[in-house]
Amino acid sequence: MKFSRRVENLPPYLFVEISRKIAAKKAKGEEVISFGIGDPDIPTPPHVIDKLCQAARDPVNHRYPESEGLPELRQAIAGWYQRRFGVSLDADKEVLPLIGAKEGIAHIALCFIDSGDVALVPDPGYPVYSVGTVLAGGEPYFMPLRAESGFLPDLEAIPGYTLKKAKLLWLNYPNNPTGAVAELDFFDRAVDFAQKHGLAVCHDGPYTEVAFDGYQPVSFMQADNAREAGVEFHSLSKSYNMTGWRIGMVVGNAKMVDALKRVKSNLDSGIPQAIQRAAIEALTGNQDCIQEHNLIYQRRRDLVIETLNRIGLKAEAPKASLYIWAKVPEGYTSVGFAADLLDKVGIVVTPGVGYGENGEG
Ligand SMILES: Cc1ncc(COP(=O)(O)O)c(C=O)c1O
Repeated sequence: MKFSRRVENLPPYLFVEISRKIAAKKAKGEEVISFGIGDPDIPTPPHVIDKLCQAARDPVNHRYPESEGLPELRQAIAGWYQRRFGVSLDADKEVLPLIGAKEGIAHIALCFIDSGDVALVPDPGYPVYSVGTVLAGGEPYFMPLRAESGFLPDLEAIPGYTLKKAKLLWLNYPNNPTGAVAELDFFDRAVDFAQKHGLAVCHDGPYTEVAFDGYQPVSFMQADNAREAGVEFHSLSKSYNMTGWRIGMVVGNAKMVDALKRVKSNLDSGIPQAIQRAAIEALTGNQDCIQEHNLIYQRRRDLVIETLNRIGLKAEAPKASLYIWAKVPEGYTSVGFAADLLDKVGIVVTPGVGYGENGEG
């Protein structure tokens, strides 16, 4: 048996390694507290689960779903964007439900990347942007995100020869892992830059609803000409504590949405319809849960930041996202410090270098 080079060269997924370490500790009977992955521990709201159970009993939902999703779900997504961001979307052409944002993020590379093509990806960054690029036969170009620039990439610093080969520009705010946020002026500049260089923008925004102290993150789709330049990935995972149900969406540029729909209709058979019905309930039903969850996260954030600063580890309180980006103590690498935390006190954190070279430290 001989596997493809594509698979031979695939690094183990960051969180698989972490889960393995947690399982090994627990098998020894040791207690582990995990700060390692952004997976809400608060259950999905009860009205959403009620709808899911009801829909699961209806035989109409027992058959193959359409890969473009139920029209009512696409309309619910468009309605949610209108209410939340004042953005009007054509539910048939500019909206596509996904089996979680991760799935669409990985598959859109197949719409753009041929051998030798480049995707511009943030470093540190969510690993799927670069892994999706590599699986499609392309090369990631890592754009450093630095604290002194508010963890926004310096687009003008990307070399001309890289831009000639580049097809996709990946952005993600509120940001995993740094917790940084972007405002509309940055997205406007990104649209201009992308249009000047013939790039398609993929903005990944699953954390726009996880925000604190009254702060309201913006959507990339609010930028001028955003729908000419790109798409936004979003998800019900973090907004409604639905990571386990696997449902998200991509919205924006109709040609990009159509290309992804064509790839997906050949690869998957859509999202189980009962889950689509639950998602419609989440998007159109009572939204109080979002504020309730954010108050819980805000309390936890303050406790963690206060504790880190008390023990001498520098970290800023994020305005949004589920993440705290803290410096490791002098003399440690991020992997060494994370290993020590797990071995000595049973606390799991993700080493910064796991998100890219610029995440070291
Ligand atoms: C930045 C970012 N994008 C996408 C995802 C995946 O979301 P989903 O659960 O919808 O696949 C995550 C999950 O942690 C994430 O942090």
